[in-house]
Amino acid sequence: MTAFALASPPGPRVLIDGSWRDYFAGTGYLGLQGHPAIVRAGIEALERYGLTTATSRGGYGEHEAFRAVEAAASRFWDVERAIYVPSAYLGNAILLQGLRPDYDRVFIDEASHYSAWDGARTAGAPLVPFHHRDPEDLERQLKTHLLPRERPLVISDGVFPISGAIAPALAFLDVLAPFDGGMLCLDDAHASGVLGAHGRGVLDHFQIVSDRCHATHTLSKALGGYGGILPGSASFVAALNRLSAISIAASPPPVPAAQASAAALALASAEPERRHRLWANVAHARAAFRVLGWSLNDSPAPILCLGARPGLDLAHIQRQLFARDLCVAHVTRYSSAPPGGALRIAIFATHTMEQIDRLAAEVAGLL
Ligand SMILES: Cc1ncc(COP(=O)(O)O)c(C=O)c1O
Repeated sequence: MTAFALASPPGPRVLIDGSWRDYFAGTGYLGLQGHPAIVRAGIEALERYGLTTATSRGGYGEHEAFRAVEAAASRFWDVERAIYVPSAYLGNAILLQGLRPDYDRVFIDEASHYSAWDGARTAGAPLVPFHHRDPEDLERQLKTHLLPRERPLVISDGVFPISGAIAPALAFLDVLAPFDGGMLCLDDAHASGVLGAHGRGVLDHFQIVSDRCHATHTLSKALGGYGGILPGSASFVAALNRLSAISIAASPPPVPAAQASAAALALASAEPERRHRLWANVAHARAAFRVLGWSLNDSPAPILCLGARPGLDLAHIQRQLFARDLCVAHVTRYSSAPPGGALRIAIFATHTMEQIDRLAAEVAGLL
């Protein structure tokens, strides 16, 4: 846990420990947190409805605000239905529990997020890890472990939270093709609202349209709201509600969070230029840090991972940057953190090019 405490909305400039600082941490990639329309929607709902429904949606906890966010999510992901769940963390469990009749064995990228592992464990199917982002090893594991007539489910992060790497979803689908009933599930927490022509995530990025592919989304990061979303067909959503107790038996997110999230989704849909600005900033930042010796590809993912290099003290660099009012995360222990740790730089649509250039210049001065 870090000692820093935010005293402002997350954004390109934040108040931490009494000073305003340039902020390249966290996950507010579209710069929507603190947007007046989102804040207003939350305040109005709080005044009108109070904080929570005080019972689950399976009881009398159904609420028009939940229906509003689900309708907004259905439009955003262009699907028949979507379920709004307490978090994307729980969303992975809901997804794998709900799909349980349709698969027999789970193959998981070894570097997947804790929530994918926990979700898979709660669903109770045998679990086989494969090497990180390695379709050849996935194929080897499928051939080694899958029994005759068993149907595989492959799960991976869509975008890995520290490395920023994108899952090779097309290659995974090629490997799955010969296996009857194979499914691919992506945890798109860092891709929701960010990747793809419509901002729908990694499937959108690769233009994959298939009822064998599913993704867990979060509203709590790029999209500026709060909670998890599972989009799909009406029958898919009905199965999740029937087979997972979480969405009917846990408290739903606070009602103001739902109302604010509906407003956030509407903004993200109405302002695709946020996503385009984000991609331009990401390209600018990747080029700036490539010059400093880190090998960064041209991915549109808004996470730059500056890994360990001989003679570099990443913790010292992070502290020195903070002393210059620049916030980046130094991550040594989290899923997808590379050996030796990394400086994780999050890029937002609302950063200016000057902010990005200043960060790169300060890092250059510390090398
Ligand atoms: C890859 C990944 N999946 C899932 C989650 C959980 O999402 P949520 O915050 O909506 O529970 C996170 C959160 O940090 C994450 O990084």
